[in-house]
Amino acid sequence: MNHIPVLLHEALNALCIKQDRVYLDCTFGRGGHSQAILASLGEFGRLIGLDRDPSAVSVGIELAREDPRFQIIHTAFSRLEAALNVLGIGRVEGILMDLGVSSPQLDEAYRGFSFQADGPLDMRMDPTSGESAAQWIARADTKEIAHVLWFFGEERFSRRIARAIVEARATTPIQTTAQLGKIISDAQPVIDRNKHPATRAFQAIRLHINGELTEVEQGLTAATNRLEIGGRLAVISFHSLEDRLVKLALRDASRLPRGDPRMPLPENLAKPKLRLVGKAIKAGPDEVQMNPRARSAVLRVAERTEAA
Ligand SMILES: C[S@@+](CC[C@H](N)C(=O)[O-])C[C@H]1O[C@@H](n2cnc3c(N)ncnc32)[C@H](O)[C@@H]1O
Repeated sequence: MNHIPVLLHEALNALCIKQDRVYLDCTFGRGGHSQAILASLGEFGRLIGLDRDPSAVSVGIELAREDPRFQIIHTAFSRLEAALNVLGIGRVEGILMDLGVSSPQLDEAYRGFSFQADGPLDMRMDPTSGESAAQWIARADTKEIAHVLWFFGEERFSRRIARAIVEARATTPIQTTAQLGKIISDAQPVIDRNKHPATRAFQAIRLHINGELTEVEQGLTAATNRLEIGGRLAVISFHSLEDRLVKLALRDASRLPRGDPRMPLPENLAKPKLRLVGKAIKAGPDEVQMNPRARSAVLRVAERTEAA
């Protein structure tokens, strides 16, 4: 399945594209947002795409062949400063982050993200590095598993599920999404009719395996460092943990640090680096009807100030 870009017009508006400047799409995916940015750029504009998923990068390579204004780099966006350094780019005029997973990642069973399509239990956005979900599930102890399920999934039966996982793996290694989905479902004492019983646990394991919240925290700091004065940062998040993190990070960067009022702040801390632009934006009913994934999307926008 292809990926339908979420809040496309809203994100594009937020970026206030200037025709001949350089932009950064930190989450290229299948390039929906990137294509729209390129359509707004002029002949001398440039767009850099990043993605940690090699299959997204392959799509980006095709786009770069067709459009010389575009380049793609295989990297996590926490390392966006290193990527820009390699390209000899200092600051950019606008940065987009469309967080989370793409539809192909969820839909292709072999990626192991979904309890709905059986596949190998992987869940890495970048299968070329780090530990897969199956490897983690095989080695983590009950306490660590319960902590991840609670902290990243707000799963109220985290301990019970963790115990069930550890008991099950003692007899058979847990290697597929269907196996794990069943163990989690069987361990749930209460069934929520509106949600698959493994939804929270799968989200939690995915966030943990990909270090997603740390990525967002580091990515936002790096993005703020590399925005031109007056440049825009647009961030789309898809669940409450992620959105809370984005909201707090942008809010903190748009306020003066609290200190002793009698002590003057050092010059580099005397002004906030960001200014918040408008309120959080959500998808309208038409978009949600056309693309149910948009239901939970929240777009937050900030502008870089002249602070160092
Ligand atoms: C929601 S999709 C983006 C879809 C894209 N805007 C489009 O229109 O096709 C998120 C993409 O970001 C990538 N991604 C998520 N976290 C990342 C990170 N920390 N660094 C780099 N890429 C990341 C995922 O691999 C995925 O391809």
